[in-house]
Amino acid sequence: MSEQRVTSSRDMETSYGYRQVGADEKQGLVDDVFHRVARRYDLMNDLMSAGFHRVWKDAMVTWLNPPRSPGWSVLDVAGGTGDIAFRIVEASGRAAHATVLDINGSMLAVGRERATKRGLEANVAFVEANAEELPFADASFDAYTVAFGIRNVPRIDVALSEAFRVLKPGGRFLCLEFSQVEMPLLDRVYEAWSFNAIPRIGQAVAGDGEPYRYLVESIAKFPDQARFAAMIADAGFDRATWRNYSGGIAALHSAWKL
Ligand SMILES: C[S@@+](CC[C@H](N)C(=O)[O-])C[C@H]1O[C@@H](n2cnc3c(N)ncnc32)[C@H](O)[C@@H]1O
Repeated sequence: MSEQRVTSSRDMETSYGYRQVGADEKQGLVDDVFHRVARRYDLMNDLMSAGFHRVWKDAMVTWLNPPRSPGWSVLDVAGGTGDIAFRIVEASGRAAHATVLDINGSMLAVGRERATKRGLEANVAFVEANAEELPFADASFDAYTVAFGIRNVPRIDVALSEAFRVLKPGGRFLCLEFSQVEMPLLDRVYEAWSFNAIPRIGQAVAGDGEPYRYLVESIAKFPDQARFAAMIADAGFDRATWRNYSGGIAALHSAWKL
């Protein structure tokens, strides 16, 4: 068991939070977490981040700046209950088309219900598939987004190569993920909150603290900003850069397929 951040995609493949697992074991364990939390996922997101995930997601969509003309499409990978896709479609004045892809049918089921309630069925499609094996032709999308999802994917390098493949030349890659806190003191407060409060909130609200322990540990293991930018560049992307939010609690990486 190691609490160090991983520095390579391969190390992430065999780390389930702080536990070392077999390469083919991780996805099943992750799937179990999201099947268990799906119905409480949106509520827990608000509680765990004190509402901040909304601000970070809005910032992501602002940086993406989707055009307000029809014909532009985005693939939102590990899109879960649809938060990013819905924001993008709304920001485009309902001109954009979004495909929400997730490996977990329970998360997608919640997403479909939310899309119907918002009257967004025509703009949003839901696809159950693996980020490591995207069921789309090369050069299919104008943008690829992934929010709080990539750290759950066992083979991050494979997922990044797939992102590159399905983007059109000139396409945009954006990844929002929890990252390395770069403000003294805030890192201590954040660590105390993550490891003590979040599993307890999970226990109290969702009746199960274990999935939230995994989520917190997987955040602590994920590569830091610079290392992740290097992984994105290794997949073939240009101009890989990032912005920190809330002192680095979250980071938004951007890159282009040029
Ligand atoms: C923390 S949730 C993020 C959901 C959403 N993007 C958001 O920001 O609210 C992580 C999602 O990653 C999905 N996921 C995990 N492994 C995946 C994989 N290999 N391929 C696609 N999705 C995956 C999970 O099912 C889950 O819905």
